[in-house]
Formats: sequence, C-alpha cells, structure tokens
Amino acid sequence: MDTILVIGAGGQIGTVLVQALQQKFGLSQVIASDLKASQSFTGIFEILDATKADDLMSLVRKYQVTQIYHLAAILSASGEANPVRTWELNMQTVLNVLEVARLENVNKVFIPSSIAVFGPSANPVHTSQQTYLDPTTVYGISKVAAENWMQYYHTKYNLDVRSIRYPGVISYQSMPGGGTTDYAVDIYHKAVQGQNYECFLSEDTRLPMIYMDDAIRATLELMDADAERITVRNSYNLAGLSFTPTEVAEAIQQFFPTFQTTYKPDFRQQIANSWPQSIDDSAARRDWGWKPAYDLPRMTEDMIHHLDHQYHADLTQV
Ligand code: NAD
Ligand code: SER
Repeated sequence: MDTILVIGAGGQIGTVLVQALQQKFGLSQVIASDLKASQSFTGIFEILDATKADDLMSLVRKYQVTQIYHLAAILSASGEANPVRTWELNMQTVLNVLEVARLENVNKVFIPSSIAVFGPSANPVHTSQQTYLDPTTVYGISKVAAENWMQYYHTKYNLDVRSIRYPGVISYQSMPGGGTTDYAVDIYHKAVQGQNYECFLSEDTRLPMIYMDDAIRATLELMDADAERITVRNSYNLAGLSFTPTEVAEAIQQFFPTFQTTYKPDFRQQIANSWPQSIDDSAARRDWGWKPAYDLPRMTEDMIHHLDHQYHADLTQV
C-alpha cells in the first residue's frame, strides 16, 4: 500500500491535490505537510520546512513514505522580489527531495515544472517539448535546473521521478500564490462579487492556462502510467487552454453582462511576454494519453457556479 507525502500542501495546487490523493489512496495514507498548519485540512498533517533535509528524512522514515509530491516553491512574480532567496529555496528543496528519495528508496516522486522554463528564444506558438530554454525569471531558471536534476537522478540512480510543466492553474478551491497567471483567478472572484477588475496584464496577452480539475487529473494520470511509457524524464509539456484577458472577460460577461475590465500592466507584463502563448503537448498525449476536458466556456461556467456558491454561502453565515 502506498504512503504519500505532499510537501507544500497548503498552496494553490496542494490544497486540491491532497484531497484527490486522499480519495484515491485513503485518508490514512496521505501526509500533508507545509511550513504552517492549516485548519482546513482533514487527515494527517505535519509541519515541514523542506529546506531542512534531516527533517524531511525523519518524516519519510516515520511514515515509510513510498511517494513524494513536492509542491513547495516561490513562484514567478514573488520570486523577482528576492531572486537569491528564490533560487536557494527552489533548488535546496528539490535537491533534498531527490536525495532523500534516493537514499530511502522512495518508489515515485513528482516535482512540477512550469511554462516559466521557456523564454524569448522559444517559438511562442505551440511551443515544442524540446526547444531552447532561456527563462527570464529566477523562478524559470530554478525550474530548468530542477528539470535537469530530475533527469540526472533518473539516469544515474534510476529514481522514478516524473514532472509536468504546468500552465497557469485556475481554481475556485484555492487562491494562487504569487504567479504571473494569477489574474485569471482574481478576475473571477471580482466578477462574482459584483466588482469590476483592473488587470495587471495587457488585454491581448495570450498565455497557456489549465483548469485545476484538469491539472489534478493530469498529475494522477502521469503518476499512474507504467514507467516504461514515460519517455520524458525532465518534464512534460502540458496544454489545457489558452486565452487573453479580453477573452476571459468576454466569457465572464456571458454571466455578468455589466462586468468591466480595465488594464494597467505592471512588471508581470514582461514576464508574460517572455512565455509561450500555447503549448505542444503531443508527448504527454502519446505517452500517457493526456487530453484536457475544459475549454474557456466550460471552465467559466464551473468557476462562476462554485464561486457564486462560496460567496453566497459566506454571506448567509455573516
Ligand atoms: P503556492 O505558492 O500556492 O504554494 C506553495 C506552498 O509551498 C505554500 O503553501 C508554502 O507555504 C509552501 N512552502 C514554501 N516554502 C516551503 C518550505 N521551505 N517547505 C515546505 N513548504 C514550503 O504554489 P502552487 O501554485 O500550489 O504551486 C505548486 C507547485 O506547482 C510549485 O512547484 C509551482 O512552481 C508549480 N506550478 C504552479 C503553477 C500555478 O499556476 N499554480 C503553474 C506552474 C507550476
Ligand atoms: N502560474 C505560475 C506563475 O505564474 C507558472 O509557473 O508563476
């Protein structure tokens, strides 16, 4: 029976992934961990600072962990405020996870990468799996390095480490943690609360995105795939949908016709300009059967349905 450790479980993706893993493996088989405890967690929770290798090792031994999902990182926009700290945290935690997994014979490891590995030299349309990687952010640099470390641990030690280059993840369950794609979550929250939205990217900035349900399903499908099918050991390109701020605003106006968006690009515009507009994920489709389920209208309907319920329920409790 597998025992799963999730590191960085209190973040945007971890909050939802822990629930999905609990459903799949059972409540007692999933250990959620983060720097701080969260009241919203049901199940086993442990405080863990993943920069501390000894603490990570103790936890893996205590629960005889067989799979690790390592989600702790500082994301693209937050990372630019303190590049050295971002590099240290993002790299130290990845190396600790890989090394502890190797020493403790952990069966499988998942460490996500990002569309932030791409930079100006990559073709921005339908960006291919194998292309020049020249990221402009310290976050992107750390993800390229992490991809190379994953490849190294697989080749040298046969560690079964798997990865996805997530696009911007859009969720109603949790808030994003300091990325360039965060606007695509914020805009829904504002619309559902009856407010207009000032967007920090320009109206025509097209970026690759993915709905949380698809992102979680992709993660579980990748981790379930037979090892022989995994031909990409740095990180798989993954496509969900691609849209501009104007397009998502128009989709929202189908539900809230008076909703308005204004545009005031800030430093995140330059980051977005260096990223792809759409992604070629043919390797993921070929190797483990990836296919996204959500397009913009379907995602918008689901986001608004759930956020409306959240805000409405909150109001009735006041
Ligand atoms: P997040 O910022 O929402 O959450 C990260 C979590 O890590 C936080 O709960 C934080 O407390 C925790 N953390 C930070 N430092 C830690 C440490 N030293 N030890 C233990 N925990 C620590 O991030 P997210 O959006 O959930 O992203 C999870 C992973 O997915 C990251 O690797 C990120 O790069 C990647 N990713 C996310 C997106 C996205 O759009 N959300 C897109 C591409 C890739
Ligand atoms: N959503 C993430 C960010 O904007 C992509 O890795 O940083």
